[in-house]
Amino acid sequence: MTKICAVFGGSRGIGKAVAKLLVQRDYKVAVISRNLDKAKAATEEIGGHLALSCDIAKEEDVQHTFQEIVKNIGNVNYLVNAAGVNRDGLLLRTKKEEILSQLSINLIGSMYTCKVALRGMVQQQRGAIVNIGSIVGHKGNAGQSVYSASKEGLVGFSKSLAKEVARKNIQVNVVAPGFIHTDMTSSIEETSLKQTIPLGRFGEADDVAQAVAFLLSSSYITGHVLVVDGGLQLQI
Ligand SMILES: NC(=O)c1ccc[n+]([C@@H]2O[C@H](COP(=O)([O-])OP(=O)(O)OC[C@H]3O[C@@H](n4cnc5c(N)ncnc54)[C@H](OP(=O)(O)O)[C@@H]3O)[C@@H](O)[C@H]2O)c1
Repeated sequence: MTKICAVFGGSRGIGKAVAKLLVQRDYKVAVISRNLDKAKAATEEIGGHLALSCDIAKEEDVQHTFQEIVKNIGNVNYLVNAAGVNRDGLLLRTKKEEILSQLSINLIGSMYTCKVALRGMVQQQRGAIVNIGSIVGHKGNAGQSVYSASKEGLVGFSKSLAKEVARKNIQVNVVAPGFIHTDMTSSIEETSLKQTIPLGRFGEADDVAQAVAFLLSSSYITGHVLVVDGGLQLQI
């Protein structure tokens, strides 16, 4: 069976590393982000098959994106939700619009992509989904209450969805990274934080990609959260 994967947030960072690794493993990959030029540049660089623009927070955008993938490369049987934003701020200083925007992208957007992808996967009686959560959702972190809620919400969503679709031979899992070198973490002062990580370093996007690819290719893991954080969770 041809392996066709939609990677939302595939234009840079973790999503791009996932897309690259999947291409190397003979998946046909659609790279998706809001910025089409960046999605196209990433697709060209990694040898992907299709670049599309989509705002994951807009359901019609998501539906249209899947139609384009089916038309151009075929039915999606693998989905990776790596699109996400993180805007730090104390809750008392966070506006309602900002709360809704983060939840719409990080949590509800993944619900939209899963819902549309599942229609095709159910027909094929096969599929695998990996949603990218965060160890911050599990541990909590001051200044990240909204982000944490969006990411731990994704865990509850994924575990329940895994139970809903297991009988259709579809797996749903979460990869929860710690601190990973990407644009998202570029403004973080690394030196002192590194001391709190048992493995003593930030992770690389490829460290996360390896975990995602492992879950996509597994046949008997579902409803699982795979933590990729250099041991950070041990520091609770
Ligand atoms: N880096 C870390 O340390 C870390 C740790 C834990 C979890 N994570 C999670 O891992 C995922 C990837 O993070 P990253 O570090 O790779 O971030 P990144 O480098 O900022 O990349 C984010 C990706 O998401 C896309 N994106 C953002 N908003 C979108 C929207 N509304 N619709 C569609 N695409 C959108 C971006 O492209 P456009 O801007 O063009 O749309 C980009 O491709 C995120 O969910 C993040 O929360 C990251």
